[in-house]
Amino acid sequence: MISFIDLAAQQQRIRSDIDARIAKVLDHGQYIMGPEVAELEAELASYAKAKHVISCSSGTDALILALIAFGLRPGQGVIVPSFTFAASAEAIAVLGAIPVFAEIDGRSFNLDADRLDSALSAAHAQQIDIVGIMAVGLFGQPANITALSDYAQAHNLWMLDDAAQSFGGRWQNRPSGSLADITATSFFPAKPLGCYGDGGAVFTDDDEMAERARSARIHGQGSDKYENIQIGMTARLDTVQAAILLAKMAIFDEELQLRNKVADRYELLLSEHVTTPFIAADAYSSWAQYVIILPEASNRADIQTRLSADGIPSAIYYPRPMHTQPPYKRYPVSEGGLAITEYMADHVLALPMHPYLDETVQRNVADGLISALG
Ligand SMILES: Cc1ncc(COP(=O)(O)O)c(C=O)c1O
Repeated sequence: MISFIDLAAQQQRIRSDIDARIAKVLDHGQYIMGPEVAELEAELASYAKAKHVISCSSGTDALILALIAFGLRPGQGVIVPSFTFAASAEAIAVLGAIPVFAEIDGRSFNLDADRLDSALSAAHAQQIDIVGIMAVGLFGQPANITALSDYAQAHNLWMLDDAAQSFGGRWQNRPSGSLADITATSFFPAKPLGCYGDGGAVFTDDDEMAERARSARIHGQGSDKYENIQIGMTARLDTVQAAILLAKMAIFDEELQLRNKVADRYELLLSEHVTTPFIAADAYSSWAQYVIILPEASNRADIQTRLSADGIPSAIYYPRPMHTQPPYKRYPVSEGGLAITEYMADHVLALPMHPYLDETVQRNVADGLISALG
């Protein structure tokens, strides 16, 4: 059976380093906010060229901390794609604010800056005050930050980058973590940089927003433990997870290069048969997922069954756009609807992707897919 994501191959490489780092945490016993947390935050800050890094308990909590740092209030609107994982819109809704679903472009799967006007008009028609844009770097490729930032500036909006999937990616050679006013990422195990449990981080250059996120991470703490200056959460990253991430950081760049090689090989094997991923000239992808678009007439369920019979795992990210899901149906959608989003939900297919996928296995995946396409 082929692995969709192979965490065991990675662990084999770094197991002794991970064991040593975990043993060190067990020896010093500072399980909450231990020295590894500060060490990881410093390493991430230098890696992502961000002034402040606030590690936290998950990618979802990173988004919520970021939104608290922006001062998002109930009833305010945030533009977000519908073609994303639930957490992007959920973080907005859970704070009582309003996700306003905007259209993606049909090649990168990311927000289309040229279509943001339709989202703004939909919000304004309902008297919703839009305060920010949440870009999502879907499948590893950062969104078109140049166009989105221009739009945000012209309309006096802040920009949050949901880089849960695109951390390690770059836009015009600038690293994810430095591309928006605030960036949030996830260290969920299957992410390009994943720990062995839940984890995440917030990145920003802004001192005041960093302070608000840092305080919100620990119950809105002020200058001492029992002073509370805002409503917050318990959203710290465990010291043990920070220790594991430090071991993984050491091979992260090399793994990103390997993921890019895997993507290049798929491109050669598959581009004549399906629509392979489009990566903008300005982008470097961290390849969280390798997602193709199947030909219009193909039967996706059938293809998945045939692949599975050949021992080839596949997945659908994401089969149901957020604006069609019951808890989110009441939120505004761009004027004119989200036809591209809905088309993608019906036609995308994710193939195995991890740094240790070798050429022989990739050939098997490609042969299996080509024969399943019929
Ligand atoms: C685009 C996106 N945003 C947010 C999240 C939330 O991250 P987490 O699962 O760490 O809460 C995820 C991942 O699961 C994601 O893919």
